[in-house]
Amino acid sequence: WMLFEDDIDAILRLKRERNAVILAHNYQTPEIFHGVANIVGDSLALARKAVDVDADVIVLAGVHFMAETAKLLNPGKTVLIPDMGAGCSLADSITPEDIAGLRAAHPGVPVVTYVNTSAAVKAASDICCTSGNALQVVESLGVPRVLMLPDEYLAQNIARQTKVELITWHGHCEVHERFTPAEVRGFRDAWPGVTILGHPECPPEVIAETDYSGSTAGMSDFVARERPERVLLLTECSMSDNVAIHHPETEFIRPCNLCPHMKRISLSNIRQALEENRHEVTVDPAIAAPARRAVERMLAV
Ligand code: 13P
Ligand code: SF4
Repeated sequence: WMLFEDDIDAILRLKRERNAVILAHNYQTPEIFHGVANIVGDSLALARKAVDVDADVIVLAGVHFMAETAKLLNPGKTVLIPDMGAGCSLADSITPEDIAGLRAAHPGVPVVTYVNTSAAVKAASDICCTSGNALQVVESLGVPRVLMLPDEYLAQNIARQTKVELITWHGHCEVHERFTPAEVRGFRDAWPGVTILGHPECPPEVIAETDYSGSTAGMSDFVARERPERVLLLTECSMSDNVAIHHPETEFIRPCNLCPHMKRISLSNIRQALEENRHEVTVDPAIAAPARRAVERMLAV
């Protein structure tokens, strides 16, 4: 922790001077998550809490689509991301032109897009969802068929819980697509009695091998509620580190995958972001209005 002291002190001072807050996703490293963040959570919580942030500056410790969402909901505030290269394989998998093609192929079918998409893709959709509310969003539409984009596995995992027919796309999360059912069975053999939780961006065959599936906040709440003796989270590596701090009585088994995009954010570039006011995230107003509508519609569900 002493290694981080300098940066943490500087960031806490800069936050006061600039009336800034730091929003951090559950996949941020513990020194960010526990050391400097004001608001932490899953994508849904970050979107919800971004609505009533009382500050001039928001630093988004997470990936670019999260910063765009914060900007959509706070058009008058400065939104900074410490590294513009913090992307997402799901967000990169689909364009507004792809959505136009899907709409032409499926006339009248509403488009639900995962928040892990660009503002331009959100603008081309009817409503957004996250892994924490996907089922409720799909069912809120009251229609028999929905285009659920771009995460194929999330759509397949939700399809098992609803009668609504979900037409999907071929996007995948590069972190969660790597887990395999054989690997999960191997974890059970290696660690007897382990409770296995998986993020719904994992393939359905992987989720079939788990004891519970939910968003990053869902997994964290599961551990707090059920207090398993031994737990393994099929998700990004920092997740276990952040949850484990609150649960010393639970043994966390650590096979996990790293998200190279989330890991671009560090204390030193957060400090630089506040010192040099960079990198400012903006959204073209013509895109911002319809994109905001899709996010706000989700928040109202
Ligand atoms: P949630 O935090 O919404 O579960 O999403 C996980 C994720 O991969 C975000 O990038
Ligand atoms: Fe995207 Fe997956 Fe990384 Fe989340 S973990 S930012 S979905 S690549």
